Amino acid sequence: MIPVDFTERLTQIFGPQTAERVIASMSAPKAIALWENPLAKVRGTAVSVAELCTDLQLAPATPVSSALPGCWQVPPEQRDAIMRHEAVSEGDIYPINPSSLFAARALDVQPGDEVLDLAAAPGGKSLVLAAALSANGAASGRLALVEPVKPRFFRLRANMERCGVLQADYYQRDGRGVGVAVGERFDRVLLDAPCSSESRFHTSEPSSFTHWSLRKVRECSRKQKSLLRSAYRALKPGGTLVYCTCSFAPEENEKIVASLLKREESAQLMPVAVPADMAERVQSGLTQWEKRSFECATALRVLPDALWDGFFMAKIEKRHS
Ligand SMILES: C[S@@+](CC[C@H](N)C(=O)[O-])C[C@H]1O[C@@H](n2cnc3c(N)ncnc32)[C@H](O)[C@@H]1O
Repeated sequence: MIPVDFTERLTQIFGPQTAERVIASMSAPKAIALWENPLAKVRGTAVSVAELCTDLQLAPATPVSSALPGCWQVPPEQRDAIMRHEAVSEGDIYPINPSSLFAARALDVQPGDEVLDLAAAPGGKSLVLAAALSANGAASGRLALVEPVKPRFFRLRANMERCGVLQADYYQRDGRGVGVAVGERFDRVLLDAPCSSESRFHTSEPSSFTHWSLRKVRECSRKQKSLLRSAYRALKPGGTLVYCTCSFAPEENEKIVASLLKREESAQLMPVAVPADMAERVQSGLTQWEKRSFECATALRVLPDALWDGFFMAKIEKRHS
């Protein structure tokens, strides 16, 4: 059973109707989203999801959103056959949750940028950033990928190499020290922070939620606060940062962003463009939680369903002083 104090918090966060929808998504069989890795085109191995479905004699996939070109949805029962296909094992087609793809694209990386991904493994979002750096048909700019946990670090590296990422430098270190070490260096910074992963809770996998507690949420919150400070420190004036988590907890989301906005005068919360076909699945950030007010209405919460993970994201610009 999903912990009752957790579901009660969801009701406080979303209100009863939306909370019910969120809780229902935690027992729905999860569809799979497949992204046509743009780097496969650069290396000459591109395969479309349509070709993959034809090859496996599956029904055609459906597009996920106008905001996510090249991303297709297939039903849960097709997962095993698809995951075994060589287009997936060789990284030409990448299974990625649409919320992750959307968050990484919100950073709006341009060819030539210097980009930092401060919590990178296993690398789904890093791949999206690398593809944006190669949008002109060749690797450009620089991508610095940070991951402190050794097995995850090696998995990240192997994953990126398999998918054709050429311009990345890899750092096995704690992201909290990076800002001080590098100074205001990067045009774009992504912080997909380690979190309590509340939106990944699923009734079919009790291990996804048995360790949940408010204490764990608070522990994550402390780490996220110093990671965000470090990420902001590494950002050039005029640069953009995206902070995101797959947790619903305000302590890991709005509270972290509000604390940065309070501390850094140059930090400004920016709107994230949402296309019409996503309007029903997003909400503004909370402006109040447990007697505390936040100026976080411009942040975004993606509501989960049988395909999309729940996500929080905030886009922050560092103004020139
Ligand atoms: C949410 S996951 C990142 C997922 C990744 N961005 C992706 O899209 O595939 C968070 C990552 O942060 C790493 N992490 C934990 N503590 C960290 C720290 N102090 N500094 C940087 N990364 C950390 C975790 O090991 C984990 O790999």
